[in-house]
Amino acid sequence: MRWICILLSIGLRAAYAHDAGDLEVSTSSSGWSSVSLEGFDLRWTIEGDTIRFDMTAPTTGWLAVGFGGGPAMAQADMVIGYVGEQGEPRIQDGWGTGPVSHAGDTELGGSGDLEILRASEEEGITSMSFSRLLDTEDEYDFPLRPGTTLRLSVAWGADEADDFDSMHQSAHSATIEVENVAR
Ligand code: HEM
Repeated sequence: MRWICILLSIGLRAAYAHDAGDLEVSTSSSGWSSVSLEGFDLRWTIEGDTIRFDMTAPTTGWLAVGFGGGPAMAQADMVIGYVGEQGEPRIQDGWGTGPVSHAGDTELGGSGDLEILRASEEEGITSMSFSRLLDTEDEYDFPLRPGTTLRLSVAWGADEADDFDSMHQSAHSATIEVENVAR
């Protein structure tokens, strides 16, 4: 019985948190690159020294993307966002302080370098667009440059989990190439 429980828990963890290895990035002629990971869609475009991201996940709670770092969340440059009950969008520029912990950059002495451009929560799906400088010069932000190969992680919380702290219901990682030409 004990072994069945252990195997079941390993199976469940594999279903809800896993490393997808190298992930193919699609780039359109309009200059947008995109990847999809277990229902989480991320696309980005670079304009001058700024990168704009659109992220979408199947939840009405928080959704997040992380760059670099590992194992799990350690030393990852994170962006966590949600649309609150009154429709107000919130975003946190975060950092993985350990494999299973994170904090806002500003709590660690760094800076908040994200600008929310658009956010919506409809039919169980949350979408948020934000921008940041490719290199914010904050020690808690990973410099993003065209041609950079980096670890991407994505995660999202349970429905209605409008916060920056609750556990994910799904978390995944992969390796991608930020292949996009500055326009
Ligand atoms: C908000 C509060 C969060 C809590 C309390 C939390 C907690 C944890 C815990 C306990 C684990 C290890 C167990 C497991 O693998 O499921 C884990 C793994 C992980 N977390 Fe989080 N996490 C949070 C947020 C985030 C965010 C914002 C991201 C990414 C942007 C993230 C990405 C990951 C990844 C990629 C893993 C490893 C999954 C894998 O690749 O196997 N987490 N987290």
